[in-house]
Amino acid sequence: MYIVGLGPGDVSLITLKAYAIVRKVEVALYTGSLLSPKLVKLIKENAREIYNTAEMSEEEIANVLEEGYRRGKLTAWFHDGCPTIYGGLWGVIKRLRERGVPYEIVPGVPSFCAAAARVGLELTVQERSQTVIISRISRRTPMREEERVRNFVGRGTIVLMLSIHAPELVVEELKAGGLTENTPIVVVHRATWGEPVEKIIRCRLGELPEVVKRENIKGCAVIIVGPCTDEDITCNVPPSVVYSPDKHKYARSTVVEGH
Ligand SMILES: C[S@@+](CC[C@H](N)C(=O)[O-])C[C@H]1O[C@@H](n2cnc3c(N)ncnc32)[C@H](O)[C@@H]1O
Repeated sequence: MYIVGLGPGDVSLITLKAYAIVRKVEVALYTGSLLSPKLVKLIKENAREIYNTAEMSEEEIANVLEEGYRRGKLTAWFHDGCPTIYGGLWGVIKRLRERGVPYEIVPGVPSFCAAAARVGLELTVQERSQTVIISRISRRTPMREEERVRNFVGRGTIVLMLSIHAPELVVEELKAGGLTENTPIVVVHRATWGEPVEKIIRCRLGELPEVVKRENIKGCAVIIVGPCTDEDITCNVPPSVVYSPDKHKYARSTVVEGH
């Protein structure tokens, strides 16, 4: 029984392992509202029994997975991106463990990595940001006060998922942490889904609500803010230690033969 990440949307970004599973799957569950139409098509072309988990409870998902496993069918729950980030897995994993159903999680390309790649960014910037904070704005989902995004401003690159539905709150939270309306940010809508669905927008923090409205951005988007989205900073990054000529020997000497 597999819990499989299919990546951000582009079929060519499926890992070889996930592709082998999707080609052989018999009982397939998939996160309906988040998978690209191409990924859904691929699943539907291959699986005999198909369930959209957008309309199911944790108990129902666990029941279908368990039943598929007990019938000896190749059973898989397909996720967008990587299931290990905001996959909503715990309620299902808990039940599978209680029922003695073995499972394997197959990682996928996370959407925030795909988003950064599509913009042409490295999320980390030498001497400016060696930390990436992946978080979200919460309206209904309970979230500890200590984890509020405002507490992480200035501590690294911030990647916001599950937040584009509340652009005003994003602005409020980041401003509460010390950013100004003029801070450059990047929004990537449905990264790798292809034209005209994919949208890559560079704007200022204060413009976010207007941009979301104007570009009709709904649901699936990542917001990136940090040194990597500030061209004044990225134009003047200091040389990388890893690739500096005098450190080259050291870097090479730490590579273990055969690895
Ligand atoms: C429930 S979370 C699942 C995240 C997923 N497990 C991953 O690794 O990306 C859904 C959120 O992921 C982000 N997301 C997923 N796919 C995306 C894509 N192709 N482009 C931009 N954001 C995406 C959005 O922030 C969306 O609200």
